[in-house]
Amino acid sequence: MSTLSKKRYTITSALPYANGPLHIGHLAGAYIPGDIFVRFLRLNHKDVVYVCGSDEHGAAITIKAKKEGVTPTEIIDKYNKQIKDSFEEFGISFDIYHRTSEPIHHQLSQEFFLNLYEKGEFIEKFSEQYYDEEFNQFLADRYIVGTCPHCQNDGAYGDQCEKCGTSLSPTDLINPKSTLSGNTPILKETKHWYLPLDKYQPWLEEWLIEGKKGELKSNVFGQCQSWLKSGLQPRSMTRDLDWGVDVPLAEAEGKKLYVWLDAPIGYISATKQWAIDNGKNWEDYWKTQANPEEDSTLVHFIGKDNIVFHCIIFPAILHAHGGYILPDNVPANEFLNLEGDKLSTSRNHAVWLHEYLEEFPDKQDELRYVLTSILPETSDSEFTWKDFQARVNNELVAILGNFVNRVMVLSHKYFDGKVLSGSALTGADQNVFEELSKYPGLIEQSIGSYRFREALSHFMNAARLGNKYLADEEPWKIIKSDEERVKTVLFVASQIVANLAALAQPFLPKTATKLFEMLNLPQQSWEKAGQVDVLTDGHQFGEVQLLFEKITDEQVEFQLSKLTQAKIDNAKAAFVATPVKANVTFDDFMKLDIRVGTILEAEKVAKTKKLLKLKIDTGIDQRTVVSGIAEFFTPADIIGKQVSILVNLEPREIKGIMSQGMILMAEDADGRLDFVNPTGAIKSGSTVR
Ligand code: 2FM
Ligand code: ZN
Repeated sequence: MSTLSKKRYTITSALPYANGPLHIGHLAGAYIPGDIFVRFLRLNHKDVVYVCGSDEHGAAITIKAKKEGVTPTEIIDKYNKQIKDSFEEFGISFDIYHRTSEPIHHQLSQEFFLNLYEKGEFIEKFSEQYYDEEFNQFLADRYIVGTCPHCQNDGAYGDQCEKCGTSLSPTDLINPKSTLSGNTPILKETKHWYLPLDKYQPWLEEWLIEGKKGELKSNVFGQCQSWLKSGLQPRSMTRDLDWGVDVPLAEAEGKKLYVWLDAPIGYISATKQWAIDNGKNWEDYWKTQANPEEDSTLVHFIGKDNIVFHCIIFPAILHAHGGYILPDNVPANEFLNLEGDKLSTSRNHAVWLHEYLEEFPDKQDELRYVLTSILPETSDSEFTWKDFQARVNNELVAILGNFVNRVMVLSHKYFDGKVLSGSALTGADQNVFEELSKYPGLIEQSIGSYRFREALSHFMNAARLGNKYLADEEPWKIIKSDEERVKTVLFVASQIVANLAALAQPFLPKTATKLFEMLNLPQQSWEKAGQVDVLTDGHQFGEVQLLFEKITDEQVEFQLSKLTQAKIDNAKAAFVATPVKANVTFDDFMKLDIRVGTILEAEKVAKTKKLLKLKIDTGIDQRTVVSGIAEFFTPADIIGKQVSILVNLEPREIKGIMSQGMILMAEDADGRLDFVNPTGAIKSGSTVR
């Protein structure tokens, strides 16, 4: 049965940790795809609940609170609000954005734990766990860093290596260190309750590997296969922590539930709250029904680092509990990179949503559009500001915006904004209608297969169709000679605009609303897309509105400079000065002849990345120097600049060029170079000492 043929859907997007703002990587990973899918389902009259909320437990929160010197509650309150606001601004249309700190969530998580406990599902084990003697506390997995045994990454956490994606236990780490004190932790005995994932392995192999082959995306299926292949181990569902959901057992005082036990239950508690608020029955969306045909279809939208939790651990919990539906699909995305580098919160290498919203107010759909075009659906992808500018200017402005604008402006100019059918349709008109009617099906097929990039490209092709039709028909050229034909051309073009409005709804909600306002039509459901008689003869349009504006070079440069500044700040923060070298005598120093020179010419040395050939006026002569600064400075940046140059360095040949001297540069820990130059008030040839 097709993914889209069911009646009821339970859709989730990963609960973000409320420990910091969201960036474009989050949006592209779990939220834009989820939102497109849900909007599409709603347009098709499905019974759907879309839930999300803040993940407010776990070490992610306490680490941040410690860092900022505030309480965990202050952290979650601050970021829950910020995250929720960003989602709203970008039109991520959750039915509820909940919080795992809510009592209803604590109760449900405890109920889950007790259900499994009473059935004897847990293995109770005393084990040795890492303990920080200076801080007198057991260390949560995230409080321990060390070397990953699989990929040798030095910054792996006690639960996962973010570099190779392997799920770890703290004792797997080589050379573990406490992030609290920096000391090597000791092992100390403690009791915990383990979920025997190994016991569920045969069931998981059948349900997941046999049952979902060909349904899961290959990146997701591959990860699942490799976990199962390496053999599942029991995983502790409790932690020695002071923040989280209490373990509901007298003997477990002071212990909390593992955050990855409670977080996905957050999807269910959010649904419960939504059901209470909206007079619904939450069980319709989560429990297996007497007739399996009536089961809701559960789809989790997540990023790739969450695959194991949603494909293996949470399903095992639901299975062990019984009575719950299991995910139908988990269309996890890979990672989005930014300007050639990994997105990174700690290095501030990111496009933060709250900052974007301040800097580009009213350009939410532009970012939705660009991110959808580059979603990391099958492999990592990359966001660059130049590409953002190109896609907005060349696609949204030049194709969609231009087409709609011309239709609207001409209709107002020639016919006072009225749709008039004019003369009979020509073959070209009928062809265009026939083409147009294919797009809803194409988009539906792509969305049903979780191929949102492809779906969006179909949408843009529909806009291209309109643009081409208008360019071919050139109504502005025949308005004087054949007004009836112009009516027909604008009639056809207007039906295309109406179709685009309907088709835009899953992807570009604000744009769709504007289009419907301009068309003076109510929002349409999906079956209206592809119909070519949505606008009737005599229909009156609304006011013309501007859909999109160009992104300027200045805007791009500003964004790039912010990223560069973040790099500089990081380098400064991370800079550790190298130790002082052995002393030299004054006479030794005086052997160096350093002068002030002026760069007269500069050009790149062919077939090299780093070298510039410089012609320098030293005040004594004009000479050639080859310098390794091309990664940081272009010739245009430096011509005319004064530099300090060591003029009595033994000449040497570099790439076939005789270099006579060396310009002095400052170099930071990352190898970034900058000039040590006079401020311009001194003559070339002056000595430096
Ligand atoms: O990785 C994360 O950001 C987690 N907070 C995702 C949780 S998803 C769900 F299980 F709640
Ligand atoms: Zn690793």
